[in-house]
Amino acid sequence: MIASKSSVWLLAAAWSVLLAVPASAQTIVVDGETIPANETNVQDVSVPVNESAPLELTDALLANLTDLELSNISLFYFDDDDSDIQARDVRQLFRCKSMPGDLLYPGPIAWSVFNLLSGGALIKTVPLGSACYPGRLYNAATCEFLVNNWNDSDTHIVDPTSVMSPLFQGATCEPSEAAFGGECTLGGFPSYSLNVTSVAQIQLAVNFARNTNVRLVVRNTGHDFLGKNTGEGALSIWTHHLRDINVMRNYRAPGGRYTGPAMKLGAGVMVYELYEAAERAGYTAVAGECRTVGVTGGYLGGGGHSPVTSMFGLGSDQVLSIDIVTPNGRFLTVDEVNHPDLFWAIRGGGPATWGVVTSMTVKVHPKMVFSGMTWDTTTVAMNITDETFWKAIEAYWTRYPEYSAEKVYGYCRMSRLPTGGYAWRARPFMVPGMKLVDFKALVQPLLDDWAALGVFPNIEFFEHESLHPAWMRHFPPERVGSPYGRTGSRLIPRANWEDPELLNTTISTLRGIVEEGAFLVHYNIGADLPAGTAPSSANPAWRDVQMFAIYGLIWDRTTPESVVAATHEKLTYDIGQRIKDITPGAGGYGNEGDLMDPIWQQTFFGDNYERLLKIKKQIDPRSVFWAPTAVGSEDWYVTDQESYVTRQNGRLCRV
Ligand SMILES: Cc1cc2nc3c(=O)[nH]c(=O)nc-3n(C[C@H](O)[C@H](O)[C@H](O)COP(=O)(O)OP(=O)(O)OC[C@H]3O[C@@H](n4cnc5c(N)ncnc54)[C@H](O)[C@@H]3O)c2cc1C
Ligand SMILES: *[C@@H]1O[C@H](CO)[C@@H](O)[C@H](O)[C@H]1NC(C)=O
Ligand SMILES: *[C@@H]1O[C@H](CO)[C@@H](O)[C@H](O)[C@H]1NC(C)=O
Ligand SMILES: *[C@@H]1O[C@H](CO)[C@@H](O)[C@H](O)[C@H]1NC(C)=O
Ligand SMILES: *[C@@H]1O[C@H](CO)[C@@H](O)[C@H](O)[C@H]1NC(C)=O
Ligand SMILES: *[C@@H]1O[C@H](CO)[C@@H](O)[C@H](O)[C@H]1NC(C)=O
Ligand SMILES: *[C@@H]1O[C@H](CO)[C@@H](O)[C@H](O)[C@H]1NC(C)=O
Ligand SMILES: *[C@@H]1O[C@H](CO)[C@@H](O)[C@H](O)[C@H]1NC(C)=O
Ligand SMILES: *[C@@H]1O[C@H](CO)[C@@H](O)[C@H](O)[C@H]1NC(C)=O
Repeated sequence: MIASKSSVWLLAAAWSVLLAVPASAQTIVVDGETIPANETNVQDVSVPVNESAPLELTDALLANLTDLELSNISLFYFDDDDSDIQARDVRQLFRCKSMPGDLLYPGPIAWSVFNLLSGGALIKTVPLGSACYPGRLYNAATCEFLVNNWNDSDTHIVDPTSVMSPLFQGATCEPSEAAFGGECTLGGFPSYSLNVTSVAQIQLAVNFARNTNVRLVVRNTGHDFLGKNTGEGALSIWTHHLRDINVMRNYRAPGGRYTGPAMKLGAGVMVYELYEAAERAGYTAVAGECRTVGVTGGYLGGGGHSPVTSMFGLGSDQVLSIDIVTPNGRFLTVDEVNHPDLFWAIRGGGPATWGVVTSMTVKVHPKMVFSGMTWDTTTVAMNITDETFWKAIEAYWTRYPEYSAEKVYGYCRMSRLPTGGYAWRARPFMVPGMKLVDFKALVQPLLDDWAALGVFPNIEFFEHESLHPAWMRHFPPERVGSPYGRTGSRLIPRANWEDPELLNTTISTLRGIVEEGAFLVHYNIGADLPAGTAPSSANPAWRDVQMFAIYGLIWDRTTPESVVAATHEKLTYDIGQRIKDITPGAGGYGNEGDLMDPIWQQTFFGDNYERLLKIKKQIDPRSVFWAPTAVGSEDWYVTDQESYVTRQNGRLCRV
């Protein structure tokens, strides 16, 4: 049926045209079954999932779809050697990803077929906040729950599309905004979400999006800080239900670099699930501080810092093997021996770029004791002046190298109080592998300095036999869901501590930023490349880090638009630039970075960018995977955006 390679593309386009039934049609027929063609029909067209069905979308299975005249598997797999197509012709035809309402956007039949093929896993999306807005979906009890729990990550995780940084979606359906009128719209939320439980469904979704030129996004928990997990008109792959955890006590990594305990984690496994499983199995796992961040989703792909990073390296340094569905729809196992370039790129080169990771196998380490201290206070509660506060901070920060040498994780936050003075907390300042008696000896000189200044932050000391109880008890509650803030970050290197003058400038620069109203989340952390680790694309700036600093500015719903605009600009071009000026050549952390950083390639990827871009062009020549600040994302832009912030509520087009 297909004569030449070039016709594959035309056929793919024709296929979507043929299937694009106008939205006004009342009924459609699929396999002899009549389905109402209204907004909600897609969810209703479900077939039971066959538990024993093959987990992979094999060529043999695809070849059997004769009834739908999709028997040529070339429709599903893009052939990278497709030399008859002039790249510029494709660019012409597919300059933008297609959007609902476009001639080439798949119509209801196409989505229904897709739903059938996926085993009924397709969801026509509805914003979570719609329960608070007048109309068919209004529900007072649900709305009350949402308003009261919007700042809890659990509220968002169980929804297919909700995101915890709604600014980038356009904040078009915030529960708390309903009281002020307005309507709830999809905004930058995807139009469809595929609730995947198998590799085959992911392959199908990747192939469908590629062949129909529909924007594809990957969404796991919704934690992303840059809007990488959402996109208007998109098909979203929801990986949350891929939750298998497999403990292997004596894993041999291909290539022979590592033999020892490892855990294989499904794409949806969250930090707390990994920590619990590791605790039960007798290990220390490397993951983040927030309970519900997805480990093999954004966290490991972006590098990943952890309470044990000073001791064991970044999250991505633990990865031994990766299962991934690549942009051409193939399912690959990637490790140091198989597809080594991709193995290098996926570990730190950013999520949502190389394909959909279905699982990763990571190293785990022996259990060990954790000792540390916490405080959570204000200058008002301590009855100290601002000047005394900054002297106390200087006494602490100048000791960072000494604590780093002990593999510390010092996780602190400070911000100016609206009524004057500062809020200040450490939750926690702790050292893996250290007994409390030794920890107290380590910090006594600091506490003596503070006492001399009259600074008593009401310290609580602790010692636990392993990471899990220390993490359960001494970390702060997470707050998510505000559309009124932006953040950026910097990996401040050891060099800033080596020269006393530069250290002075470093402290006074950070102080100035906080005095002006920014909050500062800062970590005393090291992330040296652990011995015996395969080289990776993780930002080289991590390897020199002494302080990882996240800075942010907030506003509220009453802030005038001109002030909001100025606040965005201040974050990037004033605060961000001042910190860059004192850390030339260093970088920032892409997972917690400034979306609008004008030199994001250098900031988030350093000298690895060129090689990453080459690999990206090889593996994803059609840009099936795109996310803001992901490798190769400079080739595309989202239409109709303000100059100071890129939201995902626009059309994705080639530059
Ligand atoms: C409260 C909070 C605390 C945090 N604490 C830490 C911390 O301690 N250490 C740290 O390093 N980071 C931390 N982060 C940042 C976190 O690592 C990133 O936000 C990360 O991207 C979250 O990944 P996710 O899969 O949970 O989120 P999502 O928003 O669902 O996804 C994030 C990105 O990963 C992509 N993605 C998800 N799954 C896959 C997949 N299977 N294959 C390919 N791409 C995928 C998405 O497309 C998106 O680009 C924190 C974030 C928050 C909100
Ligand atoms: C499928 O398409 C490819 C590429 O155009 C072609 O080479 C092949 O012969 C086709 N197979 C069938 C069975 O039509
Ligand atoms: C869509 O069709 C279903 C089934 O006929 C019906 O129950 C539902 O009310 C319809 N929805 C809309 C928005 O028309
Ligand atoms: C489920 O899938 C298996 C393997 O493909 C097949 O043998 C079996 O007949 C299927 N069962 C149903 C009810 O379709
Ligand atoms: C494809 O169809 C043939 C003929 O009906 C059948 O024998 C074969 O098992 C099918 N293969 C798959 C993978 O379903
Ligand atoms: C979340 O919001 C609720 C209701 O507004 C509030 O009571 C609670 O303290 C907030 N939680 C956090 C962690 O800020
Ligand atoms: C998604 O799939 C899981 C696993 O099959 C199921 O338990 C859950 O109810 C589904 N969620 C939605 C919103 O469809
Ligand atoms: C706070 O400190 C000031 C100056 O040192 C002192 O005069 C005052 O009594 C203190 N207040 C309390 C409540 O301790
Ligand atoms: C830092 O520099 C300022 C002036 O530039 C000076 O007043 C201060 O004493 C210096 N501090 C240290 C610790 O050198």
